[in-house]
Amino acid sequence: MTSRLLHAAAVAAAVVLTSLVPRTAAGAQGAATEVTFYKDVVGILEDNCLACHRPGEMAPMSFATYEETRPWARSIREAVINREMPPWFAEAGHRPFLNDRTLDDGELRTLVRWVENGAPAGDPADAPEPREWVDGWNLQPDMIVEMPIDFPVPAEGTINYQNVKVKVDFPEDVWVVAAEMRAGNPEVVHHMRANVIPPDSEFMKDAEYGVAYENGDPRLGPRDPRVDLLGKYNPGLGPQDFAAFESAKLVPAGSDIVFNLHYTASGNATTDRSKVGLVFATEPPKKRYYVDEGPTAFNLAIPPGDRNAQVVSELTTTQPMELLYLQPHMHLRGKDMEYQLHYPDGTSETIFKGVWNFDWQLGYDLEKPIDIPVGTRMVVIAHYDNSANNPYNPDPAELVVWGPQNWHEMQNCFIGVLIDPDIDPTSIFEPSGPSLLPRGVSGPTLASLEE
Ligand code: HEC
Repeated sequence: MTSRLLHAAAVAAAVVLTSLVPRTAAGAQGAATEVTFYKDVVGILEDNCLACHRPGEMAPMSFATYEETRPWARSIREAVINREMPPWFAEAGHRPFLNDRTLDDGELRTLVRWVENGAPAGDPADAPEPREWVDGWNLQPDMIVEMPIDFPVPAEGTINYQNVKVKVDFPEDVWVVAAEMRAGNPEVVHHMRANVIPPDSEFMKDAEYGVAYENGDPRLGPRDPRVDLLGKYNPGLGPQDFAAFESAKLVPAGSDIVFNLHYTASGNATTDRSKVGLVFATEPPKKRYYVDEGPTAFNLAIPPGDRNAQVVSELTTTQPMELLYLQPHMHLRGKDMEYQLHYPDGTSETIFKGVWNFDWQLGYDLEKPIDIPVGTRMVVIAHYDNSANNPYNPDPAELVVWGPQNWHEMQNCFIGVLIDPDIDPTSIFEPSGPSLLPRGVSGPTLASLEE
């Protein structure tokens, strides 16, 4: 991935909410007439591409004007035909997602026809009303929590995950309806999370405020479900809205926030001081929006050289809930992930299946929340390529186990759920099936359950 791509992560996040609203019906017409940039193409680009392809955003080239777009016409044709752009990794045919930017056939055909006809400009008077974009915060924060000390980012080399505890000590319980993380230095922030650390959590209990620690990733295990994910920042991810279902996120009184940061060197020594903005609810919500690590394979083992190593994880629900959000997570050897629900009545369904792409780390917002009865098993099946054929593989000779750094692996799928605000979220899931097995030399796999 280019450093520009990294650079844009913040902003791409910002524009996602607005880009969900289709503004034009461009692409539908024009079978007989000539397809032109201003009449047919500009609207498609605005709806599906400009979130990233405009000045100051993550993509290295802008498609904001005809002059900027024209030299890229052939690449655009290739990228859309091959479905490389817009980036989206969920296989069709499972549950629909709200943030799916995939071009429909009409839009794709219009772009291709425009390029094949010589990419003409047409008449600027045909263009739709230009779209307005937000720069800076996409929400109006009631509170901004910022790292108190600059983190020094070296010019080169791999930078381990960093954890920075920031003192907030919320004076009372607060309900948060939206959060947005902004990179202090978007050129070096690859992705990050803001975790809520309640006062009774052991996690980074003795850490000094503001100081960056390499150890202390909450996901090193054992799970501490009291550590809730408040905000996140990834290439292509938006600000997070927790209020869509009369819902909000709880931050218990006395909590602090830990920033979990992944930096990538940009060639220049620099610094970063990132922040998270929070919007508070004016009244208590009907439902609590809670983000869990989801099914997690702390016991994973990926054999050296294995081209298609399967790793399975599982949780069983102990409370009724609604499932809203999925975000697969793996590292450099990840290939694909599937998320299955096995209902207590014996039926089951695959709700998500997709290839893994470390550069994007996309999250998937379900179009409709899924009702999850007590006793539902959530099963995640992932595959890894630990062979020398995988160009991203740090070391094909390694037996890879769970760990925080990129040369370790992870296998989990974050999930956003709605629960009764009176329920303690620490007991809404129990690891089950393969996730109860001790670590072996591979797996755990679906087959290891039958042994
Ligand atoms: C979520 C952000 C995002 C969206 C949305 C997006 N792109 Fe991109 N695009 C990128 C980034 C980042 C790159 C450069 C890195 C890369 O190639 O992966 C890129 C690269 C490209 C390239 C260059 C590929 C090459 O050959 O080098 C083309 C062409 C392109 N995008 C077209 C499009 C079109 C057309 C759309 C809309 C239909 C679109 N993109 C939507 C982020 C995005």
